[in-house]
Amino acid sequence: MSHCRLCESALHPVVGFGPMPIANGFLTPEQLTPERLAAERFFPLELAMCPACAMVQLVDVVDEAAMFNADYAFFSSTSVGMARHFGRFAADVKARWLPDDPFVVELGCNDGIMLRHFGAGRHLGVEPSGNVAEAARRLGLDVDDRFFTAELADEIRGARGPADAILGANVVCHIPYLDAVFDGVRRLLGPKGVFAFEDPYIGDILARTAYDQIYDEHVYYFSLTAVVGLAARHGLDVIDAERQPVHGGEVRFTLAHRGARPIHPRVGALAAEEATRGLGEPSTYDTFAAAVAASKEALVEAVRETDGPLVGYGATSKSTTVLNYCGLGPDDLAYISDVTPTKIGRYTPGSHIPVRSYAEFCADPPRHALLFAWNHAEEIMAKEAAWRAAGGRFLTYVPRVGWR
Ligand code: TYD
Repeated sequence: MSHCRLCESALHPVVGFGPMPIANGFLTPEQLTPERLAAERFFPLELAMCPACAMVQLVDVVDEAAMFNADYAFFSSTSVGMARHFGRFAADVKARWLPDDPFVVELGCNDGIMLRHFGAGRHLGVEPSGNVAEAARRLGLDVDDRFFTAELADEIRGARGPADAILGANVVCHIPYLDAVFDGVRRLLGPKGVFAFEDPYIGDILARTAYDQIYDEHVYYFSLTAVVGLAARHGLDVIDAERQPVHGGEVRFTLAHRGARPIHPRVGALAAEEATRGLGEPSTYDTFAAAVAASKEALVEAVRETDGPLVGYGATSKSTTVLNYCGLGPDDLAYISDVTPTKIGRYTPGSHIPVRSYAEFCADPPRHALLFAWNHAEEIMAKEAAWRAAGGRFLTYVPRVGWR
């Protein structure tokens, strides 16, 4: 029996995806030799929920150094849509919460895609993945490449004063030891400071059967219900909860010291919606598990019935779960096209499909492409309008398996 990482109650098992490699563990050609492949790391990917505190979480967690290191393949600034979104996130925080001459800390600032909007003032990025931290520094940003803990929070406050805002985009759900992070936030935040973070929303994952959001880096899948409980244990209020149309559906949670700021009516409204949907009930997750199994079956059938060669579009972290859970490999997909320089020329983790440049996709356009970057569908549909007009078709699997 496994126990909740946060409240230690017995967990309710939801779905087992089988042995899974590191989602962003793209392999170099040298690593494809049989001896080196024997060392490829797999772990059991299993989702569970806590009936006591409602937190949805992974049962087994991969150690951080295996995921976030100098070889981290994920650069945030590969999508123009995301660059726009983070510009808006920064502008919202400035307009709603910040005083003059604010001190802003961003946890997991990646290549600086959001922090650069605060670069002219007092700021600090905390980013343990060395290569992306270096990219942020090249933008002139101040970056600490340690993991955020209560001790580091004290050190930062001692050296630079309290924070007016602590931000996190697609990072808080990555951190197994959330109690230490929330403790650090409480210590580092000034009296009126806010902690604003956004991550994939379990409500959207369930609604769209988006099971590919489940992979090693995402340790937690937040509902408002669970975040309110966690915040309360650390003397914090959730003062706003805003749905965001990015990464397949996220919620931006804004927290402040208890009683320090008014609570927006959106918080009560989303809490009521979650109660109606049963997001704290184990049976809701049993229904999701059945939908995941049906989605896998439909996707495998659609791939096997595709007439002619199929390639992948977007070597996302999410694709690692789909490829390995559905048992798809180089016989099913000739290659996966991607725009990220660090992924091109490598092979997908576990499934060993070559990742090729977008230039190759354009030079010899395939007829069919499996859309792994479905969270950027709008941007990609616009970009590939000519390809689709010439007969190109995308196979998708979120919110359901089908061609478009
Ligand atoms: P991302 O949306 O961050 O998903 P995940 O968190 O699952 O990795 O990754 C999108 C990937 O798709 C990234 O590797 C870049 C690639 N991509 C393209 O190749 N072409 C595009 O037009 C877009 C928008 C993304």
